[in-house]
Amino acid sequence: MLLDGKTIVVTGGNSGIGEAIVLAMAAEGANVVIDYVAHPEETTTLIDRIEAAGGHAVGVDADVSKPADLHTMVKTAVDTYGRLDVIINNAGVETRTSILDTTEEQYEKVMDINLKSAFFGTQFAAKQFIAQGTPGLVINISSVHEDWPMPGNVAYCVSKGGTRMLTRTAGVELGVHGIRVVNVAPGAVNTPINTATENDPAALKKLDDAIPLGRMAEPSEIADMVVFLASGKSAYMTATTVFMDGGIMQGSVGL
Ligand code: BGC
Repeated sequence: MLLDGKTIVVTGGNSGIGEAIVLAMAAEGANVVIDYVAHPEETTTLIDRIEAAGGHAVGVDADVSKPADLHTMVKTAVDTYGRLDVIINNAGVETRTSILDTTEEQYEKVMDINLKSAFFGTQFAAKQFIAQGTPGLVINISSVHEDWPMPGNVAYCVSKGGTRMLTRTAGVELGVHGIRVVNVAPGAVNTPINTATENDPAALKKLDDAIPLGRMAEPSEIADMVVFLASGKSAYMTATTVFMDGGIMQGSVGL
């Protein structure tokens, strides 16, 4: 198996892209650590599914917007499985609000869950990799909107732009320790974050028409890239972003 015996922390691992990542990693032999503050019952179900299939997973009562809780996730990985190999900073939310109507509360929630958690997740994982004396990998699940404006979703874009520079700067700083930092940047994916679009046929058609491949991604397609990155087959890759967007960023209406 591609990830045999590797220990991997995944934030936001009980729904959407995170859930697909957790299932794919566990299926490849990884020990997976998942937070469950948002949906405890979904995490329990997910862990049961993994264990029934012969995999290994543990849930942690952690709110990833709180650095102390992220630290607990890393500590749980080490206490339970003896080491940490990969952290996947995946948790993310968006508000679909514009610069004119985003409140301070909305802004802070997006920044705390999307960017602050990736920042401190990277820091705590890197400290653990250095303490272990092993190379390690940080994967941040970013978005095409780390580089591409999405009007009406400004706080999200700001957080993902920050994730872009987190990955580049931390990747440069940590290379000396053999630690790699890579962003995976999906476009539109069939997850709860896009439920409103999926329930609106006109909006969904507009979105599909804007994607050269003509459809949203399935979460498992993003998870496949994460498995590849974690598998040891990407050893020379760091401080950069892999876009998985069906070509949406290059799309043109041909005017
Ligand atoms: C956002 C989605 C959006 C997609 C494509 C994602 O990062 O979360 O709301 O549909 O980008 O624009």
